[in-house]
Formats: sequence, structure tokens, C-alpha cells
Amino acid sequence: MASHKAFVLGATGVQGGAVARQLRALGWNVATIARDPDSAAAQALGAIGVQVHQGSWTDSVALEAAMVGSKSLFLNLVPVMENPASELEQGREILRIARLAGVEHVVYSSAMFVPVDDPNHILETAFKAKTDLEKLVQTSGFPRWTVLRPGFFMSNYLAPKIHLLYPGTAETGLFQLAMEPTARLPMVDHEDIGKYAAAAFLEPDRFRGQVLHLISEVVPVERAMETMRRVTGRNIRAKYLSDQEVEAMLPSHPLMVLQQVAARLVEALDDGYDAPAEARKWGIETNTFGHFVERHKSDFDETFRNV
Ligand SMILES: NC(=O)c1ccc[n+]([C@@H]2O[C@H](COP(=O)([O-])OP(=O)(O)OC[C@H]3O[C@@H](n4cnc5c(N)ncnc54)[C@H](OP(=O)(O)O)[C@@H]3O)[C@@H](O)[C@H]2O)c1
Repeated sequence: MASHKAFVLGATGVQGGAVARQLRALGWNVATIARDPDSAAAQALGAIGVQVHQGSWTDSVALEAAMVGSKSLFLNLVPVMENPASELEQGREILRIARLAGVEHVVYSSAMFVPVDDPNHILETAFKAKTDLEKLVQTSGFPRWTVLRPGFFMSNYLAPKIHLLYPGTAETGLFQLAMEPTARLPMVDHEDIGKYAAAAFLEPDRFRGQVLHLISEVVPVERAMETMRRVTGRNIRAKYLSDQEVEAMLPSHPLMVLQQVAARLVEALDDGYDAPAEARKWGIETNTFGHFVERHKSDFDETFRNV
């Protein structure tokens, strides 16, 4: 496997980091591009042998140099809130460079989605960029492609994501939720994204042309609160907001709509969907939310240190 080389975008982040670590553990060569190669995350990647090149996704010259020799690409972009459609344009350019580099298998980590009520909503634009990029990945002439659609990240409950998605919650322990207490969230542990991506790179023909939902466990939201409370011993709890309360909060917290979407993601799944059974079809054992919280107990302690 030592001659295999994958280029992993966003390796200093949550999912890209999991993919990079798991490929390195399999003995693959892994390269990435990081805006700040001196950051703690970039240094940690360097320490396990990931080639960290300095540069941004908007720097085509740096990307061309960094991608040389990579036959596999983990494509994982982040919507820019000021211009959510930019994910498509950034992806288009990266795919052009990947073709030049001779990439033979693209694994694109997109997202699970359900339509938002307002077609002009920023989230609808962001989702459209992802679906358009999925189509581009499929039609760009790569010998193999795989699309992964992760559900709701378990890491959303940890810093830094919690500060964006649930402002104030890290300080108080109180999640103000735009969903019913009966909501069920299709959650994904980013290590499971790493497992799916690594499995796809190891068996490209098996994963070729697949569009897969990527879920570790469908978790009732109240159970998620109880698990965090039990494992951390901290006063983590939820208030379930009425529609009127949500309407009143949306102008100052527009990302609250992500919670409404998260609560509806189960609608995209077939009745009786069984995430661990789906994963086992691909030889993957998924984690549970309980595993995740226990593994990240020190991160939860740090995030909720005042609670
Ligand atoms: N949160 C969820 O529940 C969820 C669910 C499904 C899909 N998603 C999707 O997952 C993606 C985010 O993945 P993640 O959570 O793993 O990301 P993350 O932890 O926020 O990390 C983002 C990564 O992207 C890098 N990056 C961002 N802009 C860059 C640029 N211009 N040039 C170079 N590197 C850049 C960051 O590098 P630096 O170290 O330089 O910052 C970092 O490595 C988004 O597309 C989101 O829509 C999220």
C-alpha cells in the first residue's frame, strides 16, 4: 500500500482529519494543503507523516503542486456563508486540477439534506451547491467516484462547532432547540466518515458509482442530552422551543434553521433504516453516540467547563 497516495482536503478539520489519520494507519501516503502549516492541527498531521503543503483552496498553483502523484482524492469543502454557492466553483477548479494530476478515484463528502421551506434561504443555496457538485463529480470523467452523504455530525456538540450552531450553550449547558423532544437525529461520528472513505479508497471498484448516506446511529435528541449529562456529569439539558419562539430567534440566529433541517433528515431514510446494518454491508462497524462522548470526554469537559 505504500505507493498509494491520497490527497485529502480539510485534513486539519474534523472529517478530513479522520480520513487522513485512517489512511496513514493503513500505510498510505497522504498529502494535504493547509492555510497555516504551523497550526496545532497541521503539526499533528505532520507528526504522523502527512505531507502538509502550505496554501489555500483558492490557490490553484499550490493545489497543483500539492496534488502531484495522488491517485485518490477526498473532496470535502466548506460553504462560505457570504457566498454559499462558492463550494461548487471551488470544487470545479479542484476537480480540474485533480484530473490534470491523474486522480483516478474521487470520494466527495457532501451532506444529507431535505428541502428547506424557503427556496431563497442560504441553506437551500448551500445544499444546491453540494448537489450540483455531486453531479459534477459524477460527470467529470474520473474512472471512479463515490459520494458520501453524512448526517448530523456528533462533533456539532463540541467546540468549536457548538459556538456557531448553539451560541451560548457551551457557557450554560442549555441547548435551545428548534425541534420536538421526540426528534431523532441521524448522527455521524467523524471517525466513521474516515472508515467509509478509507474503505472506498481500499476497494474503489466496490464503491464506484455509489451515493451513500453516512450515519453512525439515529439518536433520539433527548437520549443525546441524557448521554452527555451522564458521561460528563454536567448539567447539559434542552429546552424545546415553540414555533413562535423559533420565529423570534431566527433573525438573530439564522443558523437555527440547521436544527430544523437536522430534525427532518430522518425523512430521507427508508422506514426501518438500520445504520449499523447498512454500514456492515460495506464491512464497516459504526460507533454509537455513547462511544463518541466517552472517547471525547476531555473535549466535552473543556467545551462545558463552566457548566
Ligand atoms: N456539521 C454537520 O453536521 C455536517 C453534516 C453534513 C455535512 N457537513 C459538511 O461538512 C463540511 C465541513 O467538514 P468538517 O466539519 O470536517 O470541517 P471543519 O472541521 O470545519 O474543518 C474545515 C477544514 O477546511 C479547511 N479549509 C476551509 N477553508 C479552506 C480554504 N480556503 N483553504 C484551505 N483549507 C480550508 C480548514 O482548514 P484550516 O485549518 O485552515 O481552517 C479545515 O481543515 C461542510 O461542507 C459541511 O457542510 C457538515
